[in-house]
Amino acid sequence: MQIRDASFLMSNTRVDQCPPPTLPEYAFIGRSNVGKSSLINMLMERKGLAKTSSLPGKTQLINHFLVNKEWYLVDLPGYGYAKVSKDSRVKWGRMINFYLRQRENLSCVFVLIDSRHTAQAVDLEFMEMLGTEGIPFVMVFTKADKQSGSRTHQNVTEYMRKMSESWDEVPRHFITSAEERTGRDEVLAFIEDVNRQMAQTEEIV
Ligand code: GTP
Ligand code: MG
Repeated sequence: MQIRDASFLMSNTRVDQCPPPTLPEYAFIGRSNVGKSSLINMLMERKGLAKTSSLPGKTQLINHFLVNKEWYLVDLPGYGYAKVSKDSRVKWGRMINFYLRQRENLSCVFVLIDSRHTAQAVDLEFMEMLGTEGIPFVMVFTKADKQSGSRTHQNVTEYMRKMSESWDEVPRHFITSAEERTGRDEVLAFIEDVNRQMAQTEEIV
């Protein structure tokens, strides 16, 4: 897919104030600092479109971007960052949960996981919740440039083996690096494919 056009639309705390749910939507989520905003900028080829920071907790709202005037991309705040107050954590948790459960045009959630780390409970639990709620998702392993390719593959294989212990069908996964643009074509091709499926479903309905 060619990115002809990508623009920031709005930031929100509430799902009922998000843009009209008339286009397919893809949300990026994962632990703070995992690289959600950086991946969005890499996919869109627009540095600074989504705000990034070396300090965790940068993204705090539901941020909508419009791509090719055909679909929405959403940058969400990270979870699992210990240094924020309990109050804000509860508030963010509530905001994200509402968004995930109520956003009717949500086509797929991208769950980002640092490719250097072993499986963490907070990510496994989050994916369990998505499964229970019937929210479609795929996994994205980030920051692949930070270690050798063989190390990344070893970690990802081990992670997916662990997933297969609790999932009958393991989710699809991608390996990415925002730094080296790894995985860009694959992720965009996937989105294009889902967009096409959505359009077909609409025709049938
Ligand atoms: P929050 O909004 O705080 O939840 O973080 P985030 O998940 O949006 O992470 P962000 O994109 O802001 O990136 C966090 C840090 O990781 C920044 O310093 C990025 O430059 C760095 N980073 C992100 N992706 C990559 C990558 O693929 N490779 C490398 N080497 N660094 C990355
Ligand atoms: Mg961010």
